[in-house]
Amino acid sequence: MGKDVIVACDFSSKEQVFTFLDKFTGRKPFVKIGMELYYAEGPEIVRQIKARGHKIFLDLKLHDIPNTVKKAMAVLSGLDVDMCNVHAAGTSAMMKAALEGLTRPDGSRPLLIAVTQLTSTDEDSMRRELLIDRPLDQVVMSYARTAKEAGLDGVVCSPLEAGKVHQACGDGFVTVTPGVRFADGDVGDQKRVTTPEKAKELGSDYIVVGRPITAAADPVAAYERCVKEFVG
Ligand code: C5P
Repeated sequence: MGKDVIVACDFSSKEQVFTFLDKFTGRKPFVKIGMELYYAEGPEIVRQIKARGHKIFLDLKLHDIPNTVKKAMAVLSGLDVDMCNVHAAGTSAMMKAALEGLTRPDGSRPLLIAVTQLTSTDEDSMRRELLIDRPLDQVVMSYARTAKEAGLDGVVCSPLEAGKVHQACGDGFVTVTPGVRFADGDVGDQKRVTTPEKAKELGSDYIVVGRPITAAADPVAAYERCVKEFVG
């Protein structure tokens, strides 16, 4: 699996995202478009960023009945993104439907990964509100295995879980890991963080990095530093 740094473009307008991307005159980073930017600007923003030569992870975390997800994924597949995602909690029927919708007539498709439990969900709220009694890491591994069995390509997880996911689901099962900070940087609201270098050691395939790059005084230098530490 080719390791790469994905830049989380958490902006609310196309002006902001283009001002940011215009700084990158050399290498074109792999970018993540999330709900904020997608809902603000619609599918056109995906086409425009793609036309500038970036790979795109469209992070919309679909979770609905299988038929709805299948049809929505067919639309997203037409946007020619490189990676998109669903919630594993939608069950394997939904994940399989997502894969079907995503697969183009020529058999190609973007990578499809699953969100296991959001990092904002803790064991206490899982037990009290979702009525799930198992330890969080067991739940994450079980969701990862279900995603693998449904035919998905990988999961979003903490770098700290990447090794375990690879043990359970194989080295080819992709781990996409947020929660990355430079050793000398601000942690912000992320609770469990690792450096790009540590994420590499732990076996992450892709790190998702937002504010350490987007809020840096020199975003291009911060991106290059991430690539150097993570990819080498
Ligand atoms: O700015 P920061 O580096 O914290 O951005 C991390 C990105 O990864 C954000 O877009 C955030 O929504 C996303 N993410 C996360 N934790 C998860 C899933 C996604 O931080 N468990």
